[in-house]
Amino acid sequence: MALGDLPTGDEKRVRVRDMFDRIAPRYDALNRVISVGLDQRWRRRALDKIAVGAGDRVVDLACGTGDFCELVASRGASVVGVDFAMQMLRQARRRGLDFPSVQGDGEWLPFRSASVDVVTCGFALRNFVSLEAVLREIARIVRPGGRIALIDVDRPGWAPLRAAHSLYFDRVVPFIGGLVSDRSAYRYLPQSTAYLPPPAELRGMLQAAGFLEVDRETLMLGAAQILTGVRGPLTPVGLARGGRPS
Ligand SMILES: C[S@@+](CC[C@H](N)C(=O)[O-])C[C@H]1O[C@@H](n2cnc3c(N)ncnc32)[C@H](O)[C@@H]1O
Repeated sequence: MALGDLPTGDEKRVRVRDMFDRIAPRYDALNRVISVGLDQRWRRRALDKIAVGAGDRVVDLACGTGDFCELVASRGASVVGVDFAMQMLRQARRRGLDFPSVQGDGEWLPFRSASVDVVTCGFALRNFVSLEAVLREIARIVRPGGRIALIDVDRPGWAPLRAAHSLYFDRVVPFIGGLVSDRSAYRYLPQSTAYLPPPAELRGMLQAAGFLEVDRETLMLGAAQILTGVRGPLTPVGLARGGRPS
């Protein structure tokens, strides 16, 4: 699918933020329906893969209504959620979750360099205006040896499966979204997969940002993916470039 009429640049930033502010009240219920209840299992799998546990300082980027934060906290790690949509953060509070959170943009994270052990991010890669800039910013705040786990949707590679998936994702999901929440938002959701770079490019972007041991696991026959990596050492080149760790 091509980018077509999808927004880019600051127009995308404003439209995505407004959209999540709008759909926040119904977001969790619809998420469970759309992923047929698998989304929490995928988040758990992501945390297992990078062994998140007690003592880890975790930032959950694009935390939304707090699903990842809740799971991270249940493992004894400390977590701060970051999201630019205030209504998503408010919805987390309405759900009774009380993790610390800050309204902010993934391109400018309010944390010191090399100050966190782990960054998680669920279903937001395709929403960022510049994925490269966000990955660089994640790499800046994760300490050398720290880990990342990023989840997003995907489309199956095998043509018959891709067609069946497309029927569900491109037709059924916007229909259900329209009935329960906001039709245009749930039309955008499948369209936004067009922003996601192909697997090899994604891997290359993570490596270029400074991550080693980059791994990509596909879930549910290719309907979702988990990307993991370990922050490499700080390079003298990066430090020379204005003092910030690369
Ligand atoms: C599909 S929701 C996922 C929420 C949550 N991570 C989850 O797993 O359910 C995407 C989230 O990304 C947030 N988001 C998108 N672009 C962002 C950005 N540039 N900075 C911070 N948050 C962003 C949206 O506000 C929204 O809450």
